[in-house]
Amino acid sequence: MPFEEASPQAEPDGHAAAPAAKRVFIKTFGCQMNVYDSERMSEMLAAEGYVETDAPDEADLAILNTCHIREKAAEKVYSDLGRLRDIKSARAEGGKETLITVAGCVAQAEGEEIVRRAPAVDLVLGSQSYHRLPELLSRLRGGETALVETAFPDEDKFQALPERASAKAVTAFLTVQEGCDKFCTFCVVPYTRGMEYSRPVAALVDEARRLVQRGVRDITLLGQNVNGYHGEGPDGAPTTLAGLIGQLAGIEGLLRIRYTTSHPRDMSEALIEAHAREDKLMPYLHLPFQAGADRVLAAMNRKHTAADYLALIARIRRARPDIALSTDIIVGFPGESDADFEATLALVREAEFAHAFSFKYSPRPGTPAATMDGQVPEEVKRERLERLQEVIDAGYRRFNGACVGKRLPVLFEKAGRHAGQLVGRSPYLQLVHADADPALIGRVIDVEIRAAGANSLSGAICGQS
Ligand code: SAH
Ligand code: SF4
Ligand code: F3S
Repeated sequence: MPFEEASPQAEPDGHAAAPAAKRVFIKTFGCQMNVYDSERMSEMLAAEGYVETDAPDEADLAILNTCHIREKAAEKVYSDLGRLRDIKSARAEGGKETLITVAGCVAQAEGEEIVRRAPAVDLVLGSQSYHRLPELLSRLRGGETALVETAFPDEDKFQALPERASAKAVTAFLTVQEGCDKFCTFCVVPYTRGMEYSRPVAALVDEARRLVQRGVRDITLLGQNVNGYHGEGPDGAPTTLAGLIGQLAGIEGLLRIRYTTSHPRDMSEALIEAHAREDKLMPYLHLPFQAGADRVLAAMNRKHTAADYLALIARIRRARPDIALSTDIIVGFPGESDADFEATLALVREAEFAHAFSFKYSPRPGTPAATMDGQVPEEVKRERLERLQEVIDAGYRRFNGACVGKRLPVLFEKAGRHAGQLVGRSPYLQLVHADADPALIGRVIDVEIRAAGANSLSGAICGQS
């Protein structure tokens, strides 16, 4: 699931900082995998004596963990780098050093180009190399400049990272698979994250156990193509995602398991079956379909048709009738006609998604679609996106509205905005507000849903008026 909004990643741990602690500012763009990576970087830097700050002008080290998926996402990085350059020179006047690092997918895709465009950058750190951050920082302190580290190293970065530190929340991400071999013609991920790699089951069970010991109750397994997971199992043979979920479900104290993002081609019978059988596996599935017209799907190299997709979700709904489906959709792919776009709208209406992310096609350098004939004018893309979003929003309102009057088990995560209120998630990933005792954080409590708002539900915990 892609998020272009930047989210400052700074929640100081609550520990009193030692007076001489170095400060790191981390800003995260892009998908959940970047959120996971930022957390791991933060933990690694904590071991080096860094404390997180959300004030870039206080930071001895500023890291932008970047996203290359659409042009807008990538360009935001350069405006932020302009601001960091000014902060760096202001701090230098006060005798303070500021190291600027660009990590993540823009780093991987653009490499040297970043230091050419933004010479204030000290380190360009590809998405497969961040476990080397401490060593690279010490090289910078030793006088080296403008380091660019974007190789796909042989060693497993996950093994080289320190153990997970204290969990910050009731929910956590766990990267189980990285990279993608699907090569959809619009997408940079196979270039920025490399070929598919699945982490071994034992390492994941271990990491999940540690998270649970530290208070996590809901884990979302992450992978660019997560249902293609095929990590080494305890017997040395490859294990499927369904097998991994089965192993994780055995962890006492772990209440909920989710996974994202899946490709329709890798939605195996065993995984569908797991939705019917495994109580801890939540009834929510993010399954991008991208476009409703078969000729567009073929040009995208999706290797499925609209009918395949509809048949697949019918099978999934037979296994788990209440499952909430979400999806990703692109409008204005090269060659998309009005009729093709209508096919996308028709599919959205038929599939009844609980939620959907929709995007204007953005040509990405180096991808096949960027040079295809029939690029769609911006104005047409904008109109199509607006029309699509109306249909999506209506579906979203319908789905949330249908929950009013129902009892939903809510995992409470944190205090809400109003005094006495907690906020949590339903099994379908909806935000739910209810008045409740803070002692209920981390527990699943039945809530009677009383109202559906624009982005959330609200209700009363059962047994209370
Ligand atoms: N399987 C991946 C997909 C990553 S990209 C995952 O883990 O989420 C997320 C979504 O961004 C895609 O599903 C697609 O809808 C959208 N996207 C990717 N490349 C795009 C582009 N060039 N222009 C517009 N949207 C794009
Ligand atoms: Fe990109 Fe397609 Fe791979 Fe998803 S499946 S990451 S859209 S290439
Ligand atoms: Fe963006 Fe990289 Fe994720 S390009 S969507 S941060 S894998």
